[in-house]
Amino acid sequence: MLFPAAIISAALLSIVSAAPQRRAPAQVITSCTVPNTAALTFDDGPWVYAYDVSKSLVAAGAKGTFFLNGDNFECIYSDTNVKRVKYLHDKGHQLASHTWGHRNLTLLNWNQIHDEMWRVEEALIRIAGVQPAFMRPPFGAYNDLVREASGVRGQKIAIWDLDTGDTVGATPAESKARYDQAISQKPATIHSLAHETKWESVSNILPYAIQKLQASGYRLVTLAECLGEQPYQWTQAPGVKDPATWKC
Ligand SMILES: *[C@@H]1O[C@H](CO)[C@@H](O)[C@H](O)[C@H]1NC(C)=O
Ligand SMILES: [Zn+2]
Repeated sequence: MLFPAAIISAALLSIVSAAPQRRAPAQVITSCTVPNTAALTFDDGPWVYAYDVSKSLVAAGAKGTFFLNGDNFECIYSDTNVKRVKYLHDKGHQLASHTWGHRNLTLLNWNQIHDEMWRVEEALIRIAGVQPAFMRPPFGAYNDLVREASGVRGQKIAIWDLDTGDTVGATPAESKARYDQAISQKPATIHSLAHETKWESVSNILPYAIQKLQASGYRLVTLAECLGEQPYQWTQAPGVKDPATWKC
């Protein structure tokens, strides 16, 4: 007996949809979407210069986004780093995940990737009461497994469209020229990558970028704002440091 094709494909569809669903891979974001916004992002902290970055931004009526590690230059649970993270959050900057130990996620298996992601999320929940909605993989290195893990964790992957080059050997003059070059093309938005661990980036390039971008008509907002999205999946009251569990 012959079955009409429609019945066969309906049966096949029900088999397919009964199979376990894999979560959609995380969306990868490079550029902002809200016109005339620029998102200045800072990786690899928390670090000594967090206060200087924040002060420059706040003095200009601007906000930044910090992609934080858990255990990179200094453990995120040190007293000084806990203060820095709280300070950045209190000043209205966006906190995001740069994962725990700045490892190349493309070399890790599924469980290792989740561990790198979860541990810094836990730290940000404990310290600031925020579960980030955005993550940036160290070195910008991701593959399908990383995208799927981020998707499962409800996070989008944030890359950038303007690299200051500050950790790959660009001089301050070259980094400034990259801003000039980008701005001269009059893009609707800009999403720049810099590192809060580099003193020249903080003391020299950042003030230049703020002045130049604002003079060119860009509003300096968080990554979430430049996308018209929420910075966090959820928030709760911050915790109180428990030295027994808040450690790297
Ligand atoms: C990360 O690992 C990939 C291999 O999956 C390699 O191609 C890439 O160069 C590595 N990136 C860094 C920064 O080490
Ligand atoms: Zn980094």
